[in-house]
Amino acid sequence: MKIGTIISLLDKFRNSQERPRCGSTAKYYKIRKGVGLKLYCCKKERNYAYRLQNVFHNKGLAPRIGNKINLPDTGEYGIYIYGYITQHAAMLFEDTELDEQLKIELENKITKNSLQYYDISRRNIGLIRGQCVIVDFDTASVVF
Ligand SMILES: Nc1ncnc2c1ncn2[C@@H]1O[C@H](COP(=O)(O)OP(=O)(O)O)[C@@H](O)[C@H]1O
Ligand SMILES: [Mg+2]
Repeated sequence: MKIGTIISLLDKFRNSQERPRCGSTAKYYKIRKGVGLKLYCCKKERNYAYRLQNVFHNKGLAPRIGNKINLPDTGEYGIYIYGYITQHAAMLFEDTELDEQLKIELENKITKNSLQYYDISRRNIGLIRGQCVIVDFDTASVVF
């Protein structure tokens, strides 16, 4: 997606009643059907999440990534200006406790693929086509 398109979709979102989803480090805007924009205030954190999301995606454990995008540093977008496009996941578990069995299955799949993840919780796990995926990569890592 072109940067101009992304910015106009983001502006449209910001002018609507909808609010971004916020964690402690990232802001998330669903900018179009099936597509989200994830923003960070720290470039290093964005780059880290972007890289690891792709590693996890290649194992079927994360949404697909799109391109990186840096918003204009004019103050108009605040300090969350380092972002990337991602496939959107349905966050079905946010209102319920994550099923213990599901958690174990996910943990096993992560270990089997020589990956590590320290924060399996209902706000970080979504679904894409019936498959559990991780959406938050702050505490993900690769086993070397
Ligand atoms: N790919 C995604 N699809 C759908 N929702 C997402 C996605 N990524 C993030 N979110 C939403 O944004 C929230 C914050 O993102 P997250 O990566 O968990 O940030 P933080 O590291 O700050 O916790 C998530 O709890 C979730 O609701
Ligand atoms: Mg999170």
